[in-house]
Amino acid sequence: MSDRVYIFDTTLRDGEQVPGCQLNTIEKIEVARQLEKLGVDVIEAGFPISSPGDFNSVVEISKAVTNPTICALTRAVKKDIEVAADALKFAKKGRIHTGIGTSPYHIKYKLNSNEEEIIVRAVEAVKYAKRFVEDVEFYAEDAGRSNNEYLARVIEAVIAAGATVVNIPDTTGYTLPTEYGAKIAYLVNNVPNIDKAVISTHCHNDLGMATANTLTGVMNGARQVEVTINGLGERAGNTSLEEVVMAIRSHHDLDYETKIDSKQIIKTSKLVSTLMRMPVQPNKAIVGRNAFAHSSGIHQDGVLKNRENYEIIDPAEVGVRESSIVLTARSGRAALKHRLHVLGYEVEGKELNKIYENFLNLADKKKDITDEDLEVLVGTEKQKVDHALKLEFLQVLSGKSTIPTATVSVNFNGDVFTETASGNGPIDAAFSAVKNLVKRKVHLEEFLIQAITRGSDDQGKVHVQIEHKGTSYYGFAANVDIITASVESFLDAISKIN
Ligand code: KIV
Ligand code: ZN
Repeated sequence: MSDRVYIFDTTLRDGEQVPGCQLNTIEKIEVARQLEKLGVDVIEAGFPISSPGDFNSVVEISKAVTNPTICALTRAVKKDIEVAADALKFAKKGRIHTGIGTSPYHIKYKLNSNEEEIIVRAVEAVKYAKRFVEDVEFYAEDAGRSNNEYLARVIEAVIAAGATVVNIPDTTGYTLPTEYGAKIAYLVNNVPNIDKAVISTHCHNDLGMATANTLTGVMNGARQVEVTINGLGERAGNTSLEEVVMAIRSHHDLDYETKIDSKQIIKTSKLVSTLMRMPVQPNKAIVGRNAFAHSSGIHQDGVLKNRENYEIIDPAEVGVRESSIVLTARSGRAALKHRLHVLGYEVEGKELNKIYENFLNLADKKKDITDEDLEVLVGTEKQKVDHALKLEFLQVLSGKSTIPTATVSVNFNGDVFTETASGNGPIDAAFSAVKNLVKRKVHLEEFLIQAITRGSDDQGKVHVQIEHKGTSYYGFAANVDIITASVESFLDAISKIN
């Protein structure tokens, strides 16, 4: 059987310390309920002595969730511990997380103390917390920069005092994976009563190594990991839950398991990002918008042949519906054909080649091609009558204090004719030039321009309805240039006159 790794989520405590990420109690309850669905083992719900809001959140979260243990943070201070115990009174399973700094920096400059006194204070805090709850976690703040021999003495003493979990934080995110792993191994081998407690990792990401450090911690004996959703947390953040969980799931060779329902990962990530107003970077592992998006032609082709060519995780495993093939100027025919198939169009051979050609022309003008763009490309190609009239050249002059003027060249069965006209606006001028060219009496009955999606680089769709000798004819065109689309749709309608 695989070794169980316990997931301790501190999004609502270490994550919530981030400036601008503060949540009210109702929002915290919503996140806590989602964390419960996700399957975390422990929710660190707050630091009750720090504010009435934090106290209240721990109370309300304790009432709102059932399965996870609810944990409250304290310093190694009696009053903190009493307030935390009070906040946890409704928790079905409550844990007090108390601790003190153990690095030379913290002992000397933060606590103005000495090593022996710190051990006494640590032991007293654990013993005091034990009066209120059975489950007491001890953190040795800045353990990453603490001397291993001294750290081992502290840990032995707090376990003897009753600590059930011992947390070894890399508070400043300084350690290297080998160093952090060796620290955990040192404790496993040098703390005589270490088997009486669970070792916990708590890594910060200042050097981008939080996930690597957490995993080496586990490989060396830690069985609880302290993590946050989207890696939120002080400064560069904490270890991200989704990265550790998916690394464990993907590497069967590691032989560890968690009780996380990975299909809830994206939902949880989005909820936290929205409520905490903290966008997820697009290339963030597992939960970034590009984590399962393929844009280069070679990769798209490879993924379509077999997803595993370029994906180590099935997106469905984390709750993403499917990998996305982002159509850009670098996409190949295979990707285009696949997307059209998904949209319900089966195109092959010459038709596919023509749509692909039009697609590349559009992709040169527009960053991403959306499904709506494709619908238009296919629609235009499918509806295309072999027009006798083709727009060859169009130039318009318009602006403030200028008489709008258009010059239009149209290819009519191989011969090119050019006309210039002015009008009330650039489209009116261009339509007048076309009317002069075709020498037919046409009357514009309806004219409609629509933007397809959002940006200013978007395609415009133009529908026109014209009347000639009592009959109406319809024209349609789409182009990133709306004046070109207008003239093409006008010519499309005129071409249909027999
Ligand atoms: O980073 C840290 O050391 C902490 C402790 C309070 C657990 O967040
Ligand atoms: Zn921390």
